[in-house]
Amino acid sequence: MSASDQAATGSFFSRLERFGSVGSTQAVVRGWLDEGSNEVCVAVADVQSKGRGRHGREWLARSGRSLLVSVGFRPHDLALRHGWRLPAIVSMAMLDSATALLGPTADRLVLKWPNDIIAVHHGQLLKLAGVVAEGTSESDRLTTSIVGIGINVDWPKEGFPADLAGSMWSLSEAAGGRRVDRDALLDGWLERLEPMYTRLGAGEFDSGRWIAAQVTTGLEVEVQRGRELVRGFAVGVDDDIGALLVRTEHGGALQRISHGEVTRCRLTEVSSDL
Ligand code: BTN
Repeated sequence: MSASDQAATGSFFSRLERFGSVGSTQAVVRGWLDEGSNEVCVAVADVQSKGRGRHGREWLARSGRSLLVSVGFRPHDLALRHGWRLPAIVSMAMLDSATALLGPTADRLVLKWPNDIIAVHHGQLLKLAGVVAEGTSESDRLTTSIVGIGINVDWPKEGFPADLAGSMWSLSEAAGGRRVDRDALLDGWLERLEPMYTRLGAGEFDSGRWIAAQVTTGLEVEVQRGRELVRGFAVGVDDDIGALLVRTEHGGALQRISHGEVTRCRLTEVSSDL
């Protein structure tokens, strides 16, 4: 029985529904949690008319060519400062599912802080997936979290939007043009997410993996933090608050960036290793 069939019959997942078209799977899961649905609830869509990205941006995906999914959690005892670990496990579970499906000959998949899934294609970093999290809290505890991930699956590069064509990628392109099965990707993701979430409930998070997967470490980066553009070298990530650690230019101070977007990272110094 596949993980999504198990979800339909109960166990770890209380609810899993597939939709043809919705506004946003984030809104669907928010509605479920507001009505009192138990965790863990999962909404999957073929296409969204109001897909939500990070920092209030729109998320575009071609109908039927991406896996668009949101998962609702009601963490029992998760400190607000560790709330970033939920999008981190959602992303790592997808990274592992995709890597297993693509096999060893495909482009290498990594994370770009905090949780974008990136393909390393001939030394270029191309975005495959993005993760957004929306939550509620009481005092210093996270009470609900809805984590959404959109990953480009069977989307040929000829159909990429012109303004994104130089920065995006899909799993089928990463696999050299081979078809990639969205259902198998979803099942592999759900199977991997369950133990990661169970461990998180016991206070365990695999920081080592999250840290090792970050392609930004050691690279020259530009990070948009609100209106400010921070330039420097990413020297690592902080596994307590999930921040990106950037040594600013000209021997500047070490900055801990908790919220922001890496808008550029230069691979020139390390491209031979990738
Ligand atoms: C990003 O900006 O990189 C994050 C994009 C997250 C998009 C996904 S698609 C499924 C879920 N529903 C949404 O409306 N957004 C997320």
